[in-house]
Amino acid sequence: MNKYAIDIFGLGQCSLDYIGKVGTYPPANVKCEFSDLVVQGGGPVATALVALSRWGLSCAFSGVIGNDLFGAMITESLVKESVDTMNVRIREDCDSQFAFIVSEPGRGRRTIFWRRPTGPALESEEVNYEMIKKARMVHTDGLFIEAALSACKCARKNGIPVSVDAGTLRDGMLDLARFSDFYIASETFASSMVGGNDPLEACYRLSELGPRLVGVTLGDKGSVALSDGEIIQQPAYPVDAIDTTGCGDVFHAGFIYGILKEWSSKKSLDFAAWAAAMVSCEMGGRTGIPSPRQVEGWKRKKS
Ligand SMILES: Nc1ncnc2c1ncn2[C@@H]1O[C@H](COP(=O)(O)OP(=O)(O)OP(=O)(O)O)[C@@H](O)[C@H]1O
Ligand SMILES: [Mg+2]
Repeated sequence: MNKYAIDIFGLGQCSLDYIGKVGTYPPANVKCEFSDLVVQGGGPVATALVALSRWGLSCAFSGVIGNDLFGAMITESLVKESVDTMNVRIREDCDSQFAFIVSEPGRGRRTIFWRRPTGPALESEEVNYEMIKKARMVHTDGLFIEAALSACKCARKNGIPVSVDAGTLRDGMLDLARFSDFYIASETFASSMVGGNDPLEACYRLSELGPRLVGVTLGDKGSVALSDGEIIQQPAYPVDAIDTTGCGDVFHAGFIYGILKEWSSKKSLDFAAWAAAMVSCEMGGRTGIPSPRQVEGWKRKKS
């Protein structure tokens, strides 16, 4: 029997997103009409798993929802994509994670208002360590930091590689770097870390903590990464972006896909940037995820 029961074990955020489009983001205290309402599942880890699952990898998600309508919609959005939700904990009388997102197509910007789930965070005791031991990769965004740290320590002990989507510099996020192999942060994370606009400096500082690849995504400016001392600068694919929600989530999915295919870091980052750019061409983080057929097309072009 195959040693691996699943390809990716993801632990972190799952959200329900409401996304609308405006011409220009408004000042306070106005009435602002929006168009193109999209209601969709979101969250960095959950959306990454949806992409990986569509590309043929088996995925299990671990996180927290409430026993509310949004929780049911979140679960449904994962189940219909064949993501295993056995490790989703339902907190009674609590609300699920939710976001309303205003996207400005012309400027490729989005503003996110979000609320974390109101129930207790996922605890270390609730982590499915047996499943982690049988995964090929663990992916986390660190929202439930205690659980994420325990999951990553278990993965490390069992030789399972860990990938981190570091969106916000919160307590414990840098500890997580000590137990991870691939640590890719957002531009906001990097500037909170080094104070100012120096993503490469953030990469050097992160790589001192031990991951074999560290990187920072820079929206339409692409990304910069440091892999075994080599700097890899990956430009963004030039597209007419409509809504950049989910670009970071799917960038991570693309990178993980490449690593599990045993591609080089450079090729994995290239695929990540392409997949993320495709996402920006549609409203919401999941609609624009390239299909397996489009992925095959990308591979053929690159071979
Ligand atoms: N306007 C764009 N055009 C093309 N590619 C883009 C655009 N915006 C983002 N990307 C791609 O997606 C990657 C990740 O985007 P970004 O840095 O905005 O992620 P993020 O800050 O984690 O945001 P989020 O988590 O909300 O998606 C970028 O490195 C780039 O490759
Ligand atoms: Mg992100």
